Amino acid sequence: MTARGLTAMAALAFVLRAAPLLLAQGPVLPASAGVEVAQAKCIGCHEADLIVSQRLSQTGWEREVAKMERWGATLPADERPRLVGYLTRQFGLRPAVSHDAAAVAAGEAVFKEACRMCHDDDLSEQQRLSAAAWGREVDKMVRWGAKVSAEEKPALVAYLTSRWGA
Ligand code: HEC
Ligand code: HEC
Repeated sequence: MTARGLTAMAALAFVLRAAPLLLAQGPVLPASAGVEVAQAKCIGCHEADLIVSQRLSQTGWEREVAKMERWGATLPADERPRLVGYLTRQFGLRPAVSHDAAAVAAGEAVFKEACRMCHDDDLSEQQRLSAAAWGREVDKMVRWGAKVSAEEKPALVAYLTSRWGA
């Protein structure tokens, strides 16, 4: 073998040795019930990055897992629901805005108290705003005289967004 060939071999050996270290810096699977199945059955052919970058419904994950099984993943039938449950919880389709029921209820009380002093609800009903934009709208109303404390604001914004969100 030529000297150049040896150098190339050494370089390749270095890359192969370094590869797991480089990959280890990529995204990891978040710990939660079922992660052990994903670790054992889904990491190896590829790293977690392909999984964590997906957002699929439960049906979508069922299909993805079935596809991986066709491609060579070995998964006992009784582990499949646990894995699909894990994947759907961690990497499922999220609604654009998630509404915390308790916050929305608390926010409704603030709204009735603080937002009906000067005008009817119609001004709010006409709006379709993101949470950030509702936050700014509330700040504006506070500058104009609405009585909303800093503690009450997040719940109020949750309520407004749940009713008149973007
Ligand atoms: C036998 C090897 C193998 C195993 C085991 C495996 N995969 Fe894959 N997976 C692949 C290959 C090959 C690709 C395509 C990679 C690419 O496009 O670069 C892939 C791609 C993916 C993708 C990207 C979307 C797609 O379909 O191309 C996701 C998500 C995925 N795998 C999830 C999983 C899950 C979840 C498991 C555990 C059940 C798993 N994989 C186990 C081989 C495997
Ligand atoms: C001190 C009086 C006052 C209070 C309290 C008040 N508003 Fe207003 N609000 C106004 C005025 C004045 C306008 C402008 C009305 C117009 O254009 O006809 C307005 C307009 C609005 C509009 C229309 C968009 C805009 O910015 O002009 C929205 C939405 C709104 N208010 C929401 C709220 C919410 C939510 C609350 C409770 C946090 C609230 N308001 C409390 C005075 C008030």
